[in-house]
Amino acid sequence: MSDASEIAARLRALLPRAHAPYSGVQVACVVEGGDGTNHIGVNVENAAYPQGLCAEASAISAAVTQGTTVLTRVFVASSLPGLVWPCGGCRQKIFEFAAEGCEVVALGPDGEIGRQTIEQLLPLGFRLDPAQVRRG
Ligand code: THU
Repeated sequence: MSDASEIAARLRALLPRAHAPYSGVQVACVVEGGDGTNHIGVNVENAAYPQGLCAEASAISAAVTQGTTVLTRVFVASSLPGLVWPCGGCRQKIFEFAAEGCEVVALGPDGEIGRQTIEQLLPLGFRLDPAQVRRG
Protein backbone atom coordinates (compact mmCIF):
# COMPACT_ATOMS: atom_id res chain seq x y z
CA MET A 1 0.00 0.00 0.00
CA SER A 2 1.12 3.58 -0.56
CA ASP A 3 2.61 5.85 2.10
CA ALA A 4 0.88 7.05 5.26
CA SER A 5 -0.07 10.51 3.96
CA GLU A 6 -1.79 9.01 0.91
CA ILE A 7 -3.62 6.51 3.08
CA ALA A 8 -4.62 9.32 5.45
CA ALA A 9 -6.07 11.28 2.52
CA ARG A 10 -7.95 8.19 1.34
CA LEU A 11 -9.41 7.60 4.81
CA ARG A 12 -10.35 11.26 5.19
CA ALA A 13 -12.28 11.05 1.91
CA LEU A 14 -14.11 7.99 3.25
CA LEU A 15 -15.25 9.60 6.52
CA PRO A 16 -18.48 11.09 5.05
CA ARG A 17 -19.64 7.54 4.28
CA ALA A 18 -19.74 6.74 7.99
CA HIS A 19 -23.26 6.37 9.35
CA ALA A 20 -22.79 8.17 12.64
CA PRO A 21 -25.88 10.29 13.32
CA TYR A 22 -25.93 9.42 17.05
CA SER A 23 -22.35 10.01 18.16
CA GLY A 24 -21.36 12.36 15.35
CA VAL A 25 -17.97 10.63 15.32
CA GLN A 26 -16.98 9.39 11.87
CA VAL A 27 -14.34 6.66 11.70
CA ALA A 28 -12.73 5.06 8.64
CA CYS A 29 -10.38 2.10 8.45
CA VAL A 30 -8.36 0.29 5.83
CA VAL A 31 -6.82 -3.10 6.52
CA GLU A 32 -3.93 -4.44 4.48
CA GLY A 33 -3.84 -8.17 3.84
CA GLY A 34 -0.75 -10.36 3.68
CA ASP A 35 -1.88 -11.12 0.12
CA GLY A 36 -1.46 -7.43 -0.84
CA THR A 37 -5.17 -6.58 -0.89
CA ASN A 38 -6.77 -3.62 0.91
CA HIS A 39 -10.21 -3.50 2.46
CA ILE A 40 -12.05 -0.46 3.73
CA GLY A 41 -14.74 0.09 6.35
CA VAL A 42 -16.56 2.88 8.17
CA ASN A 43 -18.54 2.88 11.40
CA VAL A 44 -22.21 2.07 10.94
CA GLU A 45 -24.33 3.15 13.89
CA ASN A 46 -27.86 2.03 14.66
CA ALA A 47 -30.87 3.55 16.45
CA ALA A 48 -30.58 0.52 18.73
CA TYR A 49 -27.18 1.74 19.94
CA PRO A 50 -25.46 -1.58 20.78
CA GLN A 51 -26.06 -2.81 17.24
CA GLY A 52 -23.64 -0.23 15.84
CA LEU A 53 -20.49 -1.43 14.10
CA CYS A 54 -17.01 0.07 14.38
CA ALA A 55 -15.04 0.97 11.24
CA GLU A 56 -12.41 -1.69 12.01
CA ALA A 57 -15.09 -4.37 12.28
CA SER A 58 -16.55 -3.27 8.92
CA ALA A 59 -13.13 -3.42 7.24
CA ILE A 60 -12.23 -6.80 8.76
CA SER A 61 -15.60 -8.18 7.71
CA ALA A 62 -14.97 -6.98 4.13
CA ALA A 63 -11.50 -8.55 4.14
CA VAL A 64 -12.68 -11.93 5.38
CA THR A 65 -15.60 -11.88 2.95
CA GLN A 66 -13.10 -11.38 0.11
CA GLY A 67 -11.00 -14.30 1.39
CA THR A 68 -8.28 -12.29 3.15
CA THR A 69 -7.65 -13.70 6.62
CA VAL A 70 -4.12 -12.50 7.41
CA LEU A 71 -3.73 -8.81 8.22
CA THR A 72 -0.39 -7.03 8.15
CA ARG A 73 -1.42 -3.41 8.81
CA VAL A 74 -4.52 -1.60 10.03
CA PHE A 75 -4.97 2.16 9.46
CA VAL A 76 -7.56 4.21 11.34
CA ALA A 77 -8.68 7.84 10.98
CA SER A 78 -11.58 9.74 12.52
CA SER A 79 -13.33 13.09 12.51
CA LEU A 80 -12.04 13.79 16.05
CA PRO A 81 -8.94 15.88 16.69
CA GLY A 82 -5.80 13.88 17.42
CA LEU A 83 -5.28 10.15 17.12
CA VAL A 84 -7.98 7.51 17.60
CA TRP A 85 -6.93 3.99 18.56
CA PRO A 86 -9.14 0.92 18.09
CA CYS A 87 -11.52 0.18 20.97
CA GLY A 88 -10.97 -2.93 23.08
CA GLY A 89 -13.38 -5.08 21.09
CA CYS A 90 -11.75 -4.09 17.80
CA ARG A 91 -8.30 -4.89 19.20
CA GLN A 92 -9.52 -8.44 19.78
CA LYS A 93 -11.07 -8.54 16.28
CA ILE A 94 -7.76 -7.42 14.75
CA PHE A 95 -5.86 -9.94 16.92
CA GLU A 96 -7.91 -12.82 15.46
CA PHE A 97 -6.46 -12.21 11.98
CA ALA A 98 -3.23 -10.35 12.71
CA ALA A 99 0.08 -11.55 11.31
CA GLU A 100 2.75 -11.44 14.03
CA GLY A 101 3.81 -7.82 14.52
CA CYS A 102 0.77 -6.48 12.67
CA GLU A 103 1.01 -2.71 12.85
CA VAL A 104 -1.90 -0.49 13.81
CA VAL A 105 -1.43 3.01 12.42
CA ALA A 106 -3.51 5.90 13.77
CA LEU A 107 -3.73 8.88 11.42
CA GLY A 108 -4.72 12.31 12.76
CA PRO A 109 -6.34 15.19 10.85
CA ASP A 110 -3.20 17.35 10.97
CA GLY A 111 -0.76 14.74 9.72
CA GLU A 112 -0.11 13.13 13.12
CA ILE A 113 0.87 9.47 12.92
CA GLY A 114 0.98 6.88 15.70
CA ARG A 115 2.17 3.32 15.27
CA GLN A 116 1.72 0.39 17.65
CA THR A 117 1.82 -3.34 17.07
CA ILE A 118 -1.33 -5.25 17.91
CA GLU A 119 0.67 -7.03 20.63
CA GLN A 120 1.37 -3.64 22.24
CA LEU A 121 -2.30 -2.66 22.04
CA LEU A 122 -3.60 -6.03 23.23
CA PRO A 123 -1.08 -7.91 25.37
CA LEU A 124 -2.13 -11.49 26.12
CA GLY A 125 -5.00 -11.39 23.62
CA PHE A 126 -7.33 -14.38 23.59
CA ARG A 127 -6.62 -17.17 21.09
CA LEU A 128 -8.32 -20.50 20.72
CA ASP A 129 -6.91 -23.50 18.91
CA PRO A 130 -9.95 -25.14 17.25
CA ALA A 131 -8.22 -28.53 17.60
CA GLN A 132 -8.27 -28.14 21.39
CA VAL A 133 -11.93 -27.19 21.74
CA ARG A 134 -14.02 -29.92 23.37
CA ARG A 135 -17.29 -30.55 21.59
CA GLY A 136 -20.19 -32.64 22.85
N1 THU B 1 -15.68 3.72 16.74
C1 THU B 1 -15.05 3.05 15.74
O1 THU B 1 -15.55 2.97 14.61
N2 THU B 1 -13.86 2.48 16.00
C2 THU B 1 -13.24 2.53 17.21
O2 THU B 1 -12.22 1.89 17.40
C3 THU B 1 -13.76 3.38 18.28
C4 THU B 1 -15.15 3.84 18.09
C5 THU B 1 -16.98 4.32 16.47
C6 THU B 1 -18.12 3.66 17.20
C7 THU B 1 -19.14 4.76 17.24
O3 THU B 1 -19.88 4.73 16.01
C8 THU B 1 -18.31 6.03 17.26
O4 THU B 1 -17.01 5.66 16.89
C9 THU B 1 -18.29 6.70 18.62
O5 THU B 1 -17.93 5.79 19.60
